[in-house]
Amino acid sequence: ALADHVRIVEVGPRDGLQNEKSSISAETKIELVRRLAGTGLETIEAGSFVHPKWVPQMAASDRILSSILSSPPSSPHPITYQWLLPNVKGLDNYFKVMDNAGSAPHDYPTPPPSPTHDSGPALNTSSSDPNAVPSSTSGVDSMAQPRQSASNERNGHKHEVSIFLAATESFSKKNTNCTIQESLDRFAPLMADSRKAGYPVRAYISVALGCPFEGPDTDPHKVADLAVKLMEMGADEISVADTTGMGTAPATRKLLQTLRDAGVRNEDIAMHFHDTFGQALINTMISLDHGIRTFDSAVGGLGGCPYSPGATGNVATEDLVYTLHSLGAKTGVDLEEMSRIGDWITGEIGKGNGSSAGRATMSR
Ligand code: HMG
Ligand code: MG
Repeated sequence: ALADHVRIVEVGPRDGLQNEKSSISAETKIELVRRLAGTGLETIEAGSFVHPKWVPQMAASDRILSSILSSPPSSPHPITYQWLLPNVKGLDNYFKVMDNAGSAPHDYPTPPPSPTHDSGPALNTSSSDPNAVPSSTSGVDSMAQPRQSASNERNGHKHEVSIFLAATESFSKKNTNCTIQESLDRFAPLMADSRKAGYPVRAYISVALGCPFEGPDTDPHKVADLAVKLMEMGADEISVADTTGMGTAPATRKLLQTLRDAGVRNEDIAMHFHDTFGQALINTMISLDHGIRTFDSAVGGLGGCPYSPGATGNVATEDLVYTLHSLGAKTGVDLEEMSRIGDWITGEIGKGNGSSAGRATMSR
């Protein structure tokens, strides 16, 4: 039996809902996050700060974050909330909400300027006054200031940043309107500012096991090369994503071996399987055998990707939990409660319940 703890990253509120055509109210999304927080999950990706014209469904993410900050969902233990963002504009929008909701905006000392910050005359601050703010006449262009946030902890819960790039040029262009190299260039300041503010960074690599535009044979060496670069840039975790669900057992094994050969450690990897071809749990088994202990999933099997035509949901959290528990692994997640949530949210958005284990649990 697999006695280990396996961490589940619930991405339903973000990956699960972002692709829904009918607009879902912010209240429903907030309710979803609240219910999920009560299931024993440790990590929830709750929204994204992307361009609302590109992904209209995520436009209410600021309200979801404000709600979590001002009245934290009750949970059996502290939750890590993750927020997906593509660029520094997203980070700015995110930090604005982090630092202005739920508490007075300036009730903490202004962080000291970074020692490497060197774009103008010395800031007019005194080390004896922790509340000193840069003088507006210091000549420092405010645009050049590092993006700041007081800390990533609020009310005992933690907040983290997720970023994403693609392993193929076609998908990169479609999803983020830039090349892979431009993504990496965008991430350098984004990651530096996130980490400076104390926010761990998760980095997704999309289309790692197949691309809707370039086919099933994504080069595993390209994925490994990107994973190494992202880790070197300061990523804390790489989520390796089978965006299209084209991944097979042999391809998954090969990819994981290639990542290992490139020096990427299992503890730095999460696997993110979409279940379009019904292979997600098989690929999960391969990954468990390889030593991976973090998996992404969405309650009710919600999900898809707006730029991956035909992609269906992430592997359902209920199915993942059922499989993991059958192997003796500990997830901390209450399957019955998760199944109730899957049934509720898929009904709420007018979809069939996409989880076999969820449907079976509900009909017991
Ligand atoms: P762009 O049009 O090239 O952006 O989009 P730009 O930098 O040229 O800016 C154009 C305008 O957008 C400007 O406004 C910016 O301010 C604004 P204007 O001056 O014209 O008024 N803007 C923003 N507004 C709000 N939030 C922002 C933002 N950035 C710029 N963050 C961009 C480039 C990356 C922004 C766009 O392509 C985008 O938002 N893409 C997001 C796509 C997305 O969310 N995809 C789904 C998530 S990834 C996924 O699902 C895969 C994953 O699950 C893993 C897997 O399964 O593969 C993670
Ligand atoms: Mg995804």
